[in-house]
Amino acid sequence: MHLFLLLPSFQLGALITGSALLLYGLLRAIYNVFFHPLSHFPGPRGAACTRWWLAYKELCRGVSLADLRMELHQRYGDIVRISPNELHFARPTVYNEIYNAQNKWDKDYNYYRAFDADESFFTQTDYLKSKHSRALISNLFSRKTISDLQHLIRSRLEELCDALRTQNAAGKSSDIYLGFQCFSADTIATFCFSKCFNQLSFPDFHGDIVEGVDIAMPAVTLRKFSKVFVWILRNFPPSLLMVISPTLKGYMIFRKALKDQIDSILRDPRIMDDAPHRIIYRELLNPAANKGHSIPTALQLQHESEVLFAAGSHTVGSTLMTAVYYTLRTPDVKQRLALEMLSAWPVLGQPPDYEVLEKLPFLASPLFFLAGPTAVIKETLRLAISVPAGLPRIVPPSGAVLSGVKIPGGPESKALDNWLVSFSKGPRSCLGINLAYCEMYLALAYLFRRFDVREDEDRLADLKWSEHFLPLFEGQHLHAYCKPLDE
Ligand code: HEM
Repeated sequence: MHLFLLLPSFQLGALITGSALLLYGLLRAIYNVFFHPLSHFPGPRGAACTRWWLAYKELCRGVSLADLRMELHQRYGDIVRISPNELHFARPTVYNEIYNAQNKWDKDYNYYRAFDADESFFTQTDYLKSKHSRALISNLFSRKTISDLQHLIRSRLEELCDALRTQNAAGKSSDIYLGFQCFSADTIATFCFSKCFNQLSFPDFHGDIVEGVDIAMPAVTLRKFSKVFVWILRNFPPSLLMVISPTLKGYMIFRKALKDQIDSILRDPRIMDDAPHRIIYRELLNPAANKGHSIPTALQLQHESEVLFAAGSHTVGSTLMTAVYYTLRTPDVKQRLALEMLSAWPVLGQPPDYEVLEKLPFLASPLFFLAGPTAVIKETLRLAISVPAGLPRIVPPSGAVLSGVKIPGGPESKALDNWLVSFSKGPRSCLGINLAYCEMYLALAYLFRRFDVREDEDRLADLKWSEHFLPLFEGQHLHAYCKPLDE
């Protein structure tokens, strides 16, 4: 039969399918606006109709979700329906009602699928299912392990300081944002994989992977809305993806480097014995620890490692940059910090241990009354927006009362908020908090004890960012002259 003979039936089929889809969309929108269990909550009509309203705002209009949420709260009050199944709360007290040790609410798959790492425990929406894999590696991030391995952070900091000296000697200011991103990327890779991607050795900190992470960031927002894009990234060969989007090169190099290491380990697990310290694969593949569970597959190892790298690099890098930004913009803080460093670290060649630094009242003190409200690290964590995402959670089927308001249960509603709680709370809170703190104390001490840091006034930073789970800094990066100090 000739193809053209089929055409009318194709057209008819397309017409019927199109009309059916349109009718379904229309009926769904009517249900969402008038009959949905969340229909009595305030919010824009478009948001109540369809999730594509949010997609339109974020993808077509380029609005940052963080800004949009603020705007909607100003207009509609403390509780806003930001998509058919999604509520956002602006009352800080709600945070503790959602994220706490008792609540084991699921993460929202519609959101977390955006990471394209379904096999990782971070993306696993069900707490009980994520628990085992998280437990396998949690020991590697314990306070004791981090303290014992702090020399790994120090050696990365030595490289960072060397690069800052070289850039200063060449009369250049340094990109503090990229510098700390390279530092934290090399540190997390060393910790987790005993492998370093040498981001700090790239000229002026233009690390291929670090820049690749920034470039790939908007894809997280895209994948939130489109399963097609998730599928493309997962299934297309890397060489083809690089042709479609050459900017993804850094991201692809990174994924391939992890894959190659995983393949070698699965071929010959003895190579893990060469690592100078325990690495994640040893823990994840440990037969005794996996008793009663299946041994992770290559894909699971790949997803776990990608997520750990992403979770442990950008967050620390952007928090450190924020600390330096506000310290430089507050001369009194800068001076007090430099003086405190000098007394805690009198001989330049003998840097103090993390345990000494974390007790310093001005750098960070749990006793706020001693340090005043500006203890640098605590205040930075309050100001930084290292994870601006809403961290959506599904209200359990029995429903919940949040801030005195009854929220219907089931997969139809979720509640989110993210204020002043940098590492989140409850069973899905940050696994890397000890590592993050250790990196922050050491990095700020090294920077402000070893250098006189001054912002480059010809390139004033504006910290403009947009939300893609992580903040994407779109404006001028923080640049500073880092002049080495003598004894
Ligand atoms: C200043 C630095 C950091 C901040 C502000 C931060 C913040 C957070 C937040 C808010 C969450 C909750 C995410 C969610 O609910 O979806 C989280 C989870 C997580 N973080 Fe961090 N993080 C930091 C550093 C690190 C580091 C260094 C690592 C090291 C690997 C790490 C590993 C993780 C992991 C694996 C999770 C997922 C936990 C789970 O789902 O059970 N983070 N972090």
